Amino acid sequence: MRPSLRQTVRGMRDLLPEEAWKLRFIEEKARLLANLYGYEEVITPVIEYYDLLAAKIGEENRRRMYVFEDFSGRKVALRPEFTASIARLVATKMVSEPKPIRLFSFGSLYRYDEPQFGRYREFWQANYELIGSGKPEADVEVLSLTNDLLGSLGLRNYVMKVNHVGVLRGILGYENVSEEAQNAIMQLLDKKSWNEALKIAEDHGASSRCLEALKSLFKVKGEDKEKIIEEISEIVREYPDALSALNNFREILDLIGRGGLEIKFMFEAGFARGLEYYTGLIFEVYVPELNVAVGGGGRYDRLIELFGGGSIPAVGVALGVDRIMLAMEKQDVHPERNREVRVLVVPVGESNIADALKISCLLRRNGIPSEVEVMRRSLSRALSDAGRRKITHAVIVGSKELSRGMVILRNMENKMQEESKIEDLPGKLKI
Ligand code: HAM
Repeated sequence: MRPSLRQTVRGMRDLLPEEAWKLRFIEEKARLLANLYGYEEVITPVIEYYDLLAAKIGEENRRRMYVFEDFSGRKVALRPEFTASIARLVATKMVSEPKPIRLFSFGSLYRYDEPQFGRYREFWQANYELIGSGKPEADVEVLSLTNDLLGSLGLRNYVMKVNHVGVLRGILGYENVSEEAQNAIMQLLDKKSWNEALKIAEDHGASSRCLEALKSLFKVKGEDKEKIIEEISEIVREYPDALSALNNFREILDLIGRGGLEIKFMFEAGFARGLEYYTGLIFEVYVPELNVAVGGGGRYDRLIELFGGGSIPAVGVALGVDRIMLAMEKQDVHPERNREVRVLVVPVGESNIADALKISCLLRRNGIPSEVEVMRRSLSRALSDAGRRKITHAVIVGSKELSRGMVILRNMENKMQEESKIEDLPGKLKI
């Protein structure tokens, strides 16, 4: 048989019931949190114009897009993220909505990444965008909800790696390094290719003072906020835009402290993200057990204007659901599935099948999940199979009892059974 009839495409996965349940569990928590913070859901298409998705996604991600022509020759792509679609939506159909706009999305994304642990070609995100505010409290809100989501899922010891791209871009812009070259530098920093990044800066006219400043920044790392801010401010003291970016960074961090939010930070002044639209705070979330980020986000104040929506600042985050599932596994976090009633209705003999169907309908109409034994197995075979499938109760439909309007109700856990009137079943089975 051809392998293509039996295999999933490389990088694509089937989620079996247990995994699918976990994904939906995370989705439910993410949706609950969206509601708690006032984010409304929007659903955007999986297929968008290539130009929209490619505009500011960054070179690496651009090369990894699934791009194709539809039958009318439109150049389209599968979405690699939500942010471009949301920016399009805000710049068009939602442009006159009062600000702020808080939007939540959940769904699958596609990137032609090299498949490996935690890296898939189809993956899922819970995405939150806060649109219309350039103020530090908006950045704080996004960090806070990220923190709350991971906490509500039972994860521990997660750390937010943070930086402010305004500092790096402030230095490079002052030296007239073009935006294109800056983008290339950010891509390299994202991959920790410090020397190559410096080389590009040099090739694009950065002075030796600038290169020294960048080199010093790349060494600034740690958890002590005051110390880090102090060190950065010393390095960038001659770059006004970088200083004002640093000031914004300090305001955000101060507000977190004063707002009583407990978030564990890791500062890295040479940290950048591959996506090109970021203009301010950037961050990624890590758990110690995984070496890939479980989430990432930041401020992007100029993307919406690129799509013709006027100058609208925004900040957001996307949590990688597949990686959160892995993190939960690694940290031994196993959410309990609600032990709900599940009934199997077993007709004893062919003559009772129709009644079994009627009883199962009665139970479902009363909101009680019920399956009918459809394999025509013997009672004992059907009951032993029921145990395997997490059935909590069996309703045994036999001719003798049926003639009196009765059935047998069996509790599969303690194996106790009793006769019951058919009409009493819903009351007895409701929890
Ligand atoms: P991102 O960092 O590209 O940001 O993706 C966010 C998260 O999606 C990552 O931290 C990771 O958990 C997950 N992810 C990304 N690629 C893969 C993959 N190949 N396999 C599994 N998981 C993956 C964004 O997408 C931005 N749109 C976030 C944002 C929203 N910024 C502002 N608003």
